[in-house]
Amino acid sequence: MAAGIDDIAIYIPGLYLDAADFAAARGLDPVKLQKGLGVSQMAIVDANQDPACLAANACHRIMERNGLSPADIGRLYVSTESSFDESKAMNSYVVGMLEQVYGQGTFEHCGGVETKFACVSGSYALYDNTNWIRAGESDGKSALVVVSDIAKYDLGSSGEMTQGAGAVAMLLNDEPRLLAFDPRVTATSIKDEYDFYRPFGKETPIVHGQYSNLLYMIQVRKALELYKENVARTGLIKIGPEETILDHMDYINMHLPYSNMGKKALAYLVRHEWRQLPRWSAILEAVGMEEPVPGEGGGTIEAVLADGEFMARDHEFTRSFSQTEQFRQIYESKLASSLVASSMIGNLYTASLYLGFRSSLEFEFKKGADLAGKRVGFGSYGSGSSAMVFSGVIQPGYADVVRGMDLEAEIGPRRRLTWGEYEKLHENVLDPSEAAGPQGTGFVLVDVKTESESRGERRYAFVE
Ligand code: HMG
Repeated sequence: MAAGIDDIAIYIPGLYLDAADFAAARGLDPVKLQKGLGVSQMAIVDANQDPACLAANACHRIMERNGLSPADIGRLYVSTESSFDESKAMNSYVVGMLEQVYGQGTFEHCGGVETKFACVSGSYALYDNTNWIRAGESDGKSALVVVSDIAKYDLGSSGEMTQGAGAVAMLLNDEPRLLAFDPRVTATSIKDEYDFYRPFGKETPIVHGQYSNLLYMIQVRKALELYKENVARTGLIKIGPEETILDHMDYINMHLPYSNMGKKALAYLVRHEWRQLPRWSAILEAVGMEEPVPGEGGGTIEAVLADGEFMARDHEFTRSFSQTEQFRQIYESKLASSLVASSMIGNLYTASLYLGFRSSLEFEFKKGADLAGKRVGFGSYGSGSSAMVFSGVIQPGYADVVRGMDLEAEIGPRRRLTWGEYEKLHENVLDPSEAAGPQGTGFVLVDVKTESESRGERRYAFVE
């Protein structure tokens, strides 16, 4: 039975911090953000928004667009790492908000949980719900998987230039118009790590940035190795003697903590895959240097990062490799369109990979590409750490959905924050009534109770 993504809706806050303003305030070269990281704007939540109302707004949009009622939805999962309660799941808040519109008790039959594993948890939620459908448990109903996050780092930290916020809702069913997931090939890797984590009670993460960059690539590569074994075992893809698995993926979507991380990770995977092939000698000739190898003691990530000579040479090699005709071809044709939205919005943690997929569909379609039957590979990564590699095939009915995609229209009107406004929002000194962004229709946070017996209760309203 086919199972996969039928439609995707996004909800992005209407306030943003411009990369040029950020660079000026922090004394950085704006080119570092715009070209080095691929960050142009970062979406910032308003005083009356939290990850639950971002998620509810994305759900409401997808339901309205598809003429769905709560009776059509059998499961509603929310994946997030911006949780504000240690017990009450975020999907319960979302159900509460949706019932303000669709009627009290209308979602009573609907199961679901909040899932957590940094940025990769949405991929686990998609996998579990796809299998719920494949197993015949859905009984004709659809599942909603919503990925929603606020990527917020300490003021003045190196992570601060990779913030963002937003939600992506995905409708899953057994006749998906967009993408049917390939069965029995999904591969995971997992390792207890402290590259990025957020201890209880702390609003922002503790981050080891360069360590996390390298760990991301290593973990995705490990999952890719297992994915290759899975496609061989199931016979899904036959990899010829001078081919790699990447040749069989028409599009590649990577987790995007910032837009250029997608390119960096693709270059890492392509190097890894091409190194054993006859085509590698032409690459080395084009690059003009041997591929560097870590020095003695290069067995750990710490040792690799501490090996300054290797890091400098590897940086030089990667830079030249990324400029080769062979890499540029794979980058432009398989990845580049997925990066457009990320550079306008920033990191959405769990939602970043799926904003990238949504971006790829829209911008490839606008190029005039025929997407039907094309295989999409996904490289999902969550700190702490786990990676998931999986794939799916774009379905014949995709154009009915993708034709209507318009990123700028879906983001809606946006307002550029002043530095002072940004700092106030970051430090949470504003009350929800002091929201400053464009106030369209949708769910907003009204208040959070502080009295001891009701502390943490949240009230939301739907603004018509
Ligand atoms: P940094 O170390 O200050 O930046 O922060 P950098 O020195 O690495 O520079 C970034 C890039 O800009 C480099 O390019 C520089 O060469 C270039 P690259 O080597 O990557 O190709 N650059 C310039 N380019 C042009 N003109 C200039 C210039 N200066 C430098 N003047 C870092 C970067 C990502 C470490 C930091 O922002 C950070 O800590 N971010 C948060 C952590 C993060 O995003 N990690 C990503 C991997 S882990 C992950 O994805 C999981 C995550 O989403 C969380 C989760 O799973 O829940 C974060």
